[in-house]
Amino acid sequence: MSRTIRVGLGARSYDVVVDRDLIGRAGTLIKPLLPRGRTAVVCDETVRRLHGAQLDDALKAAGVQASWIVMPPGEQTKSWDGLAEVSNRLLALGLDRGDVVTAFGGGVIGDLAGFAASIYKRGIDFIQIPTTLLAQVDSSVGGKTAIDTARGKNLIGAFHQPLLVLADLGVLGTLSDREVRAGYAEVIKYGLLGDFEFFEWLEANGGHVLQQRPEALAHAVARSIEMKAQIVGADEKEAAARALLNLGHTFGHALESETGYGSALLHGEGVAVGCAQAFRFSAMLGHCTAQDAARAEAGIAAAGLPTRMQQVKGAPFPADRLIMHMAQDKKAEGGRLTFVLAKGIGQAFVAKGVDAEAVRAFLLSEGATA
Ligand code: NAD
Ligand code: GLY
Repeated sequence: MSRTIRVGLGARSYDVVVDRDLIGRAGTLIKPLLPRGRTAVVCDETVRRLHGAQLDDALKAAGVQASWIVMPPGEQTKSWDGLAEVSNRLLALGLDRGDVVTAFGGGVIGDLAGFAASIYKRGIDFIQIPTTLLAQVDSSVGGKTAIDTARGKNLIGAFHQPLLVLADLGVLGTLSDREVRAGYAEVIKYGLLGDFEFFEWLEANGGHVLQQRPEALAHAVARSIEMKAQIVGADEKEAAARALLNLGHTFGHALESETGYGSALLHGEGVAVGCAQAFRFSAMLGHCTAQDAARAEAGIAAAGLPTRMQQVKGAPFPADRLIMHMAQDKKAEGGRLTFVLAKGIGQAFVAKGVDAEAVRAFLLSEGATA
């Protein structure tokens, strides 16, 4: 079941293809986009080991000249050092404006390679071949690219849209269950923020998605991308509606900051706790019912994802420190906190200027320390 979803951005529009065996066909799919028939493929060691030969063979078979830039796996690769390494390797390869970078990996590689492409010789094109569920449903689509710095995550970056995204569902078969669940958190986020029917479908079929049953996985990935494409098409630079994609992220990022952006709490797991918290906070403020919050939490928990801060390694966390992290969030304006809250399942909205005292009271009620 092949699905092609168009991200409509005028001259920068592009297709996201969702199917199986796209890597095996990548050479023929990509070649028309390579003016000089060559590309630099950026990936991490794990993806190179598991899926590199297949992509290499497919590119060679189509007559594409590919040079590989293989980085260590992990969030620390999305750094100034990682950016310097990729940029220097691109320079050493002699890539020109007419050449194209291919990001082959999870969100770390997509964000890093995309950002390197955005600044290399003042910007060259890139293609995304996302290999994690999280990257397929979220990070490879929409053109946000970035690295982390000591002062926080994704603070240095650029909007740079890819030329094409190839979401090969088969590649997800080698992911650990934990990584699949972390990606699923972003899938359920779409239902929670804007599509009640999709949320209901996930309540019934989420188990099949996690088991990677082909039909269920294809529907979940395609519907998620469709929603992201529609939101990005309407608001590329996050002036308004795109902020809804950050449901669960203000709470989630604060926990990720506390746990050091490592394996203690994966990004998707932070989003899972954050989405459940956003609904409970919405209920506390009277925006949605306690039943909505309980149902949102049950949908997340059913996937084996955390929904409470106490489940996060290192808990309990001090409320004031969590609020300090929230104030450094890119969405915070002039120190005032911004949250994505909800009037119900599928009805998220952006709440600016949220009272820090209300946040504090909520966090204390959730088990944060005073
Ligand atoms: P990741 O890229 O670190 O991948 C997770 C792990 O899975 C890595 O160890 C990787 O080597 C491994 N892996 C990748 N593909 C695999 C496969 N097919 N089989 C087996 N192992 C595989 O992490 P991620 O969860 O994909 O992405 C997280 C990053 O994405 C964060 O840096 C986050 O900030 C970013 N992100 C960006 C956006 C955006 O819009 N740009 C959105 C969400 C998240
Ligand atoms: N992941 C949030 C966004 O792309 O806007």
